[in-house]
Amino acid sequence: MGEAPLADRGRIFGNATAEPLETQTIVLVTGANAGLGFATCCRLIDDFLSLHRSSPERRLTIVFTTRRSRQASAATEAQIRRHADRHGAAASSRIRLIAETVDLQNLHAVRALARRLDRDLPKLDAIILNAGIGGWDGLNWPLTIWKVLTDVVHATTWPCYKIGTVGQVTAKQTNLASRSKGAEKEEKREEPPLGAVFCANVFGHYLLTHLVNPLLRRGRTESSEPGRIIWLSSLEATPAFYDPDDIQGLRNERSYESSKQLTDLLALTSDLPCAAPYVERFLPECSSADNGGQGGDDSPRPAIYVTHPGICGTSIVPLILPLVYCMMAAFYLARWLGSPWHTIYAYMGAAAPAWVALSPQSTLDAAEAPYRARGGGRVKWGSSASRWLGTNRVISTEVEGWGHGGVVGPPFLQNDAQLRRKRGLKLSTEEDRKQFEALGCRAWREMEELREQWEQLLDEDERE
Ligand SMILES: NC(=O)c1ccc[n+]([C@@H]2O[C@H](COP(=O)([O-])OP(=O)(O)OC[C@H]3O[C@@H](n4cnc5c(N)ncnc54)[C@H](OP(=O)(O)O)[C@@H]3O)[C@@H](O)[C@H]2O)c1
Repeated sequence: MGEAPLADRGRIFGNATAEPLETQTIVLVTGANAGLGFATCCRLIDDFLSLHRSSPERRLTIVFTTRRSRQASAATEAQIRRHADRHGAAASSRIRLIAETVDLQNLHAVRALARRLDRDLPKLDAIILNAGIGGWDGLNWPLTIWKVLTDVVHATTWPCYKIGTVGQVTAKQTNLASRSKGAEKEEKREEPPLGAVFCANVFGHYLLTHLVNPLLRRGRTESSEPGRIIWLSSLEATPAFYDPDDIQGLRNERSYESSKQLTDLLALTSDLPCAAPYVERFLPECSSADNGGQGGDDSPRPAIYVTHPGICGTSIVPLILPLVYCMMAAFYLARWLGSPWHTIYAYMGAAAPAWVALSPQSTLDAAEAPYRARGGGRVKWGSSASRWLGTNRVISTEVEGWGHGGVVGPPFLQNDAQLRRKRGLKLSTEEDRKQFEALGCRAWREMEELREQWEQLLDEDERE
């Protein structure tokens, strides 16, 4: 990828390519036709216009993906545009929307998207890896009703009544196996299974991120802010549901929780020395051509963050309308009983990813600084809402084995200490953190091996 000089890129930007890159912020959001993805696009617009109120030359481009038809995509674009128009014509003209399609369970489609982005965009500032599926078959209704009626906060924050499917895989990605029938090296050309939930939630995004690495670096120098990779995790990420011998969750009833635990492991350990060899392969320095012909690559490596939306009502758990109202009522009750995580509406849930995407690097670094000063590292940033007024804030989330921001033991910041904790969650120890790091670094190694294996298979498939 990436032979065209920088000036020729930004094809779809039309005359706007004349704008200096520094005045443009370009953010990619996956899964934007519904729920949090859609809300994130709206939130990005509002937060961007508020952040840059006094800089009318600043423009925001949102590249949003759906896996829908062109018409459905156009409808999503029209809805987002209507949202921007609420700020008035002048403000709305500072927002550019670009519709893209991709099915993250189709790796050829992921590669095709990366090629189009490389051809069409001058750079990327942040990618918000939002799209995802639950992979559930339904709910265990008697258990759901019992738990929600007797233990509403816990039951709606860490649900135990969703019925997971085991061993769900994606459709075949290549034609290699059928073509190789009768060929001598048949065993080499068989494609391995790819977990459906793993691929939609983690691997499709992982491959996409690797492929857009040049765009996240393009136009940046040593002193620039790094591009940002923003994962969407969940409070439901749980070590007990993650089997390091089955990172795809193929033998796991809780493949959703497993995929979110993997997300946490990858993001939170991404700047640790043990992950460095794999992260360097995942986000390599770019060639001069990839860097827009601007000579050797001194751009900073993109930074990896993890966020979650709290708990909000979206179609990730499909319910009929009367049950949607019951769910929202239960969410309000949980918030009034002291849950900090019931953001309830997707727009509120989008606070954390939008904040990480748009904040100046100094703001993000300052927020992490107290944890780093105590030997910690990356923080899992979550969207939260206050009890009565629903005031939206982005706060640190306690992670089993990692504590708050990698600092184990009792929370040392007053805000973190005041948060209601998951019942039964023991405080993480130094030993737990070492284990978390080891699991994270192993996950990095295995993800890189899997990516390289799949890229080879996809190359072969494309050549045939
Ligand atoms: N809702 C919550 O309370 C909550 C809590 C924690 C974390 N999250 C996370 O937030 C993210 C968004 O969830 P949501 O609640 O907004 O769910 P949602 O309303 O079901 O939206 C999911 C989005 O992902 C897209 N998508 C699903 N599979 C895809 C694939 N293979 N390729 C491309 N796009 C795909 C969907 O497209 P289609 O419409 O075409 O299916 C949809 O746009 C997920 O990662 C989820 O795990 C949500």
